[in-house]
Amino acid sequence: MWATNLKILGIVLGTLALYTLIANGIPQVESEVPQELSFTGEVSAAELVAAGEELYAGAGGCTACHGLGTRAPNLLSDAGGQGAIGARCGQRVEGESCKEYLYRSMIEPNVFVVEGFQPIMPDMRRTLSEVQIWAMIAYLQSVGGEVTVTGDDIAAAQPAGEDEASDSGAGAMIVATTDPLELLREMQCLACHLLGDEGAQVGPPLDDLGSRLTTDQIRESILDPNAELAAGYEQFGGMMPANFGQRLTAEQLEVIVSYLGSQK
Ligand code: HEC
Ligand code: HEC
Repeated sequence: MWATNLKILGIVLGTLALYTLIANGIPQVESEVPQELSFTGEVSAAELVAAGEELYAGAGGCTACHGLGTRAPNLLSDAGGQGAIGARCGQRVEGESCKEYLYRSMIEPNVFVVEGFQPIMPDMRRTLSEVQIWAMIAYLQSVGGEVTVTGDDIAAAQPAGEDEASDSGAGAMIVATTDPLELLREMQCLACHLLGDEGAQVGPPLDDLGSRLTTDQIRESILDPNAELAAGYEQFGGMMPANFGQRLTAEQLEVIVSYLGSQK
C-alpha cells in the first residue's frame, strides 16, 4: 500500500515539476546561451574582442572542432608556418583582406577550404547573429594580428532604422507555427539533424528518437543540449544552440517533443 502511495506521490511531484518547468522554467533553462550582444556603432575593439573570445570558448561552439586534434585547423596557434589566425587570415585568398576572409569563413566556410581539411564547418549564421559574427572576427584578428573590425561593421550589420544592434542570435527568427515538421524546418533543426529523407547529419538522426529517448529526455536535450551529450556525438557538444527554450513557446516545444517522441 505504501508503495502505491509513494508511486502516486512520485507521479504527482513529477507532474508538478514538469509543469513548473514548462510554465516558468523555460526562459531560465539555459546553459551556454550566446550572450545577448547589444552594441552601438560606438563599440570599442576591446569590447568586441572580449565578446568574441567568450563566444569562441563557449556558446559559439567553435572548440567542438577547432583546437582539438586534427579535425580542424588550430586557430590560436601557428599553422603551416603562417602564424595564428590573425596573422594568416590576410594571406589565405588572394585579393581578400583578413577581415573579408574571416567573414566569409564564417558564413560561407566551404567556398575556400583550408588545404588538408574536410568541408565540415557549418554556416555560422545558423547559430550566431551578425553582431556575434563580427565580435568573433574581431577576436580572431586579435589572435596574432590587428583588429580592423569597427563600429561601422556593427552598424552595417543591423537592419536600417535601428541604431542599436540588438541581438538574440538566430533567435531573431521566432515563428508562429505549431506544425511539428514546419517547426523543425523553421528552427533549423534539420540543418543539423536527419529526419526521413530531409535534413543533414551533423547531430544524431531523429528518425528513431522515440525508441531511444523518453519524452522527458527529448525535452531536456532540446532545452539544455549540453547537459547530457548524445552518445557518439560528444565531440560535437556545444554545437546545438542552447537557446531554443527562449525561441519556442511552451506549446511549440511540447509539439516538437511529442512529435519526436513518436518517431520509432
Ligand atoms: C564542425 C566543425 C567546425 C566547427 C563547429 C567550426 N569550424 Fe571553423 N573550420 C572547420 C574546418 C574543418 C575548417 C577547415 C576547412 C575549411 O576551411 O572549411 C575550418 C576553418 C575555419 C577558419 C579558417 C581557418 C584558416 O586557417 O584559414 C576559421 C577562421 C574558422 N574555421 C572559424 C571558426 C569559428 C570562429 C567557429 C565558431 C563560431 C568555427 N570555426 C566552428 C571546422 C569547424
Ligand atoms: C547547429 C546544429 C544543431 C541544431 C541547429 C540543432 N541540433 Fe540538435 N543536436 C546537435 C548535435 C551536434 C547533437 C549531439 C550533441 C548533443 O547532444 O548536444 C544534438 C542533439 C540533439 C538531441 C539529442 C539526440 C540524442 O540522440 O540523444 C535532440 C533530441 C536534438 N538535438 C533535437 C534538436 C531539435 C528539436 C532542434 C531544433 C529545435 C535541434 N536539435 C537543433 C546539433 C544541432
